[in-house]
Order: sequence, then C-alpha cells, then structure tokens
Amino acid sequence: MPNIRTGRAAGFLKFTGCVALIASVPALAQSAAPASGPIATSAATANPGPLTIQADRPGPVINRDIFGQFAEHLGRGVYGGVWVGPDSKIPNVRGIRTDVVDALRAIKVPVVRWPGGCFADEYHWRDGVGPAAKRVTTVNTNWANAVEPNTFGTDEFMDFARQIGSEAYLSVNVGSGTVQEAGDWLGYMTSVAPASAARERALNGHKEPYRIKYLGLGNEMWGCGGPLTPDEYVTKMKTFAHFVHNQNPEQAAPPIDFAKIAKDLMTGKPMDGLPRNPNGMRRIAAGPNSADPSYTEVIMKAWKTRSPIYWDIDGISLHQYTWGSLPFAEPATNFGEKEYATVLMQTQLMDRTITKHSEIMDKYDPNKAIALVVDEWGVWLKPTEGTEPMFLEQQNSLRDGIAAAMNINIFARHADRVRMTNIAQMVNVLQSMIMTDGSKMLLTPTYHVYKMYVPFQDATYLPVTFGAGEYKFDKITLPKVDALAARGKDGQVWLSLVNLDPNAAADVNASVAGITANRADGEVLTAPSFNSVNTYSKPAAVAPKPFSASASNGKLMLHLPPHSVTVVRLQP
Ligand code: AHR
Repeated sequence: MPNIRTGRAAGFLKFTGCVALIASVPALAQSAAPASGPIATSAATANPGPLTIQADRPGPVINRDIFGQFAEHLGRGVYGGVWVGPDSKIPNVRGIRTDVVDALRAIKVPVVRWPGGCFADEYHWRDGVGPAAKRVTTVNTNWANAVEPNTFGTDEFMDFARQIGSEAYLSVNVGSGTVQEAGDWLGYMTSVAPASAARERALNGHKEPYRIKYLGLGNEMWGCGGPLTPDEYVTKMKTFAHFVHNQNPEQAAPPIDFAKIAKDLMTGKPMDGLPRNPNGMRRIAAGPNSADPSYTEVIMKAWKTRSPIYWDIDGISLHQYTWGSLPFAEPATNFGEKEYATVLMQTQLMDRTITKHSEIMDKYDPNKAIALVVDEWGVWLKPTEGTEPMFLEQQNSLRDGIAAAMNINIFARHADRVRMTNIAQMVNVLQSMIMTDGSKMLLTPTYHVYKMYVPFQDATYLPVTFGAGEYKFDKITLPKVDALAARGKDGQVWLSLVNLDPNAAADVNASVAGITANRADGEVLTAPSFNSVNTYSKPAAVAPKPFSASASNGKLMLHLPPHSVTVVRLQP
C-alpha cells in the first residue's frame, strides 16, 4: 500500500508568492505610453514606414534556449498532459503520451524546466525513483492539495526530455530541502561507477549518467520558495552552488590551474572566473519578482565579489506574468478590444523590465557573463469554467499567440543578456502549447507561433529599422507592427512581422541592406477575431496558412492581415 504523506496549508495560502507579483505590475495608466526601444527608429506614424533589415550589421546569436518550456507538477500539466502511464489505452511510450511527444518534437523544444515552480521547493526526489509500486504518494500542497502519485519522477522526466529531443533544466529544492538532498539527487543523476548512486540508477534502468544543462537554485525565493530577503537567499544559495556537484565526466569542470590563481592573487589581478567546460552544467540563481530590483542587485553584488573556486552562477532567473486588468480573472474567451489592447500593452512591459534588470547587471558584469533567464512568463487568465481553479487551466486565443510573438521578439532584442526563457507552461496549464482531454489533444495559437519561429533558434540577430506605425485604443498606444529579423542557421534571412492592429491590415515595404530580395515565403497566423480559439470540435480555427509576397522594383510589399503573426524567409 502506498504511504500518504499529508501536506499542510491549503493552496490559496501558498499562493501569496504569486500575489506579490501583481503588486509590482505597473499601473495601467503608467504603461499606456508608446512602446520605445529597438523596434522603431523613426517617429511612430499611423501606418508603418519602409522597413530595412541591416543584414550587414549582425548582432548576437538568439540562443535557442529562449524557446524553452516549463512543466510543473500542477493540475494536469504532467499527469494527463504528458504522463498517462504504460497501461493506458492512450498511445504512449513507457507511459509518456505519443501525440504530445510528436507535437513537441515538431517545435524543437530546446530545454524543459522541471519539476516546478512552487512545487520544486517542496519536492523530494527520492519519492519519485525506483519501482513504481513502491513509490510514495504525497500531496501537492501548492496546487489544490492534489494527490501526487510520484509515478512521474526523475527517470520518467529524463525519458520524456529524451523523447522530445530536449535538454533538462532541473530546479532543486532550496526552500524546504537540504544541500545534502540536492547533492544526492545530482549524484543519482550524474555519478558513474563505482559510486553507489550510479549503481542505484543503473538498477532503475539507466546505466549512463544523465546530462543536465541547467540547475535552478530554488524558485521564487521571495515568495513560495521562501520567503527570504535577498541577503538571506544569497547566503543559502551559495552553499547549494558550492556543494551540489554534477559528476557526469562529460560535464566536469576542467582542472583548476592553481599556479595561475596564485599569480593572479600575487599581482592583485581580479579572478574573473575559472576555465569552463562548454558542456558544463550552468547554475541559475532564483531572481527577481517582475520589476523589483532587490534580488538582482544583491545577487550581482555577491557574484562580483565571489571567489569562483568556491561558488559561481551562470544566470539569474526573472518571473513576469501578464495578468490583464483583472488578475487571475481576465477573461480568456469572448473578450473585447479593451481586454485585447490591455494584455498586449502589458506584454510590452517585458521590455522595460528586462532593460531595468540588465542595467543593474551591466554595473557588475559589463561582459555579460551572467544570463538573465526569464524562466516563467506568459498570460495568466481566468481559469476555464468547470475546472479546478488552482489547476490554472485556461483557454488560449489568437491574442495570446500574438502576445507570445511580441515577447519572443523582446527576448531576441535582448539576446546579449537573455539567453534562456521558459514559457508557463507546456501542457494544460496557463499559456500552454498543448491541451489534452483524455485521448484528445489540441494545439493552441501559442504552439503555432513557436512552430513558426523555429528558424529563429540559434539564428543571428539582424537589426531592423522602420517606422512601426501606431495602434491606439482609448488611452493605450502601441506600435502597429512589431518586427524581428535574423539570419538563420540555414544562412537565410528570416523576418517576423506582428500586426497588432485588430481593425486594419498593414502594408510593410521591406528590403534588406546589400541584398536583393525578390520573394518572401512563409506562413501567417490569423483568424476571424482576436479572441478566436481552438477547440476539440474546431481544432484548426487558429492555424497558420501559407503566405508569400513578391518584389517590385527591388522592394517587397508584405500585406499583413489585422491581428496576425507572419514569418517569412526572404529569397533572392
Ligand atoms: O507557473 C505557476 C506558478 O507561478 C509557479 O509555480 C510559480 O513559480 C509562479 O508563481
């Protein structure tokens, strides 16, 4: 018989971490100013002006991990969404549903963050390893006190990541766990013979050590993972960064050059990090709540004065959700233009938040060694009628796909500092890619945006100059068109154009500096209304369609429908 380890407080009490996020979202009136920044170089006009892609001025690589996902033990995110168990009638491979794996493979998921979120800081990995019949049953106290059968544990997650072709981003339990527990978990995942932990893993069917690309040192330590002050967190985080080792020989750090260190010390030269293994595991500190600078400031200050022999980090995480004007209650369906414009206006705030944290990071780290990792973001809307509210299930409309494209464009424009993001969440939770209902599955508008953006993974950013035009609603003013260009790994120039205006098409006259582009081919995502959604009876109400444009006199004219996302490859 399984053990029941009962949990404590009801979910809503634990929810205060999220509530703190709301307080830091700037008031609506403040944010209604036109978006500024790299998007537009000339004064905004009612209609977009000519657009030039500066192919001769390449910028940083848009790290493919910017297209990362997040899968928490929350509602039906894992159980039902990913895991159905090997005995299920739903087609599966070792318990992992095949339809979901196939869909995720198609969007080339680079990295998945697991097991939380708030869940991570109460997760005890030993509950989820070993023979299925012996796993303990626990209670998910963060999320509706749901029964947690622990049938999906470390080995199942790694199997899932391998099936979809993704890297792993593990969040260790800093909040309620110990350094020893986290160290033992890494030992289980990464050690090699003759370590007993490696033998245990082999007995569970996995002889080879796992590869862990990223290790998260806690989650929302100012909220559900703590609550801790930034100083309290840094003290705790340093011990996790120091003692939790990846033992996979392929990921091990190169030997320390003590002679060089001694020389640096003697000559008073600052030690600027140690030699790195390019395959090494990267450590991500739990960072700020939205625009609040306190965690960023304190962590970066500690990092600047660290001794890298003893502890180091590679990134700081940032969480920022888009709530609309009714937190947790902004309608996900049947909303009007006010709600449409409000959500897109708040989406633009991501740029301001990233800029704010980047400025602090630049003070301590002008060479941008530390990444800003936006490992939770997305629209957080009213739960779907008839579902458990704490399971955070919501519909996903064309508007949300447009918001995803705008966010990706913002991340790409900050690619020198933002090197990973993880949308919340992958299946059935918040702004998901995929929804499931028993054996049924559907793809959301956000999924389609991720698929259309695959060519931007590891592409080289190319600046774009143009007049973005304006879309106005009441006191809200937004750019009419948002644009992102990059040279893909295929050598081709790719262009994404988002027409935010729900009432009028936009004609964009595009050219590439130094190159003649005669054609543009790709896809456009739009639908009859900005609030159109996919349902099990109409799964393709919002789906991409082919798009093409040809040039006249060396200029491409791209006709963008209202409320649409268009991604094209420019052809000679
Ligand atoms: O994504 C849902 C929750 O939002 C996560 O568990 C938590 O980190 C955040 O507050």
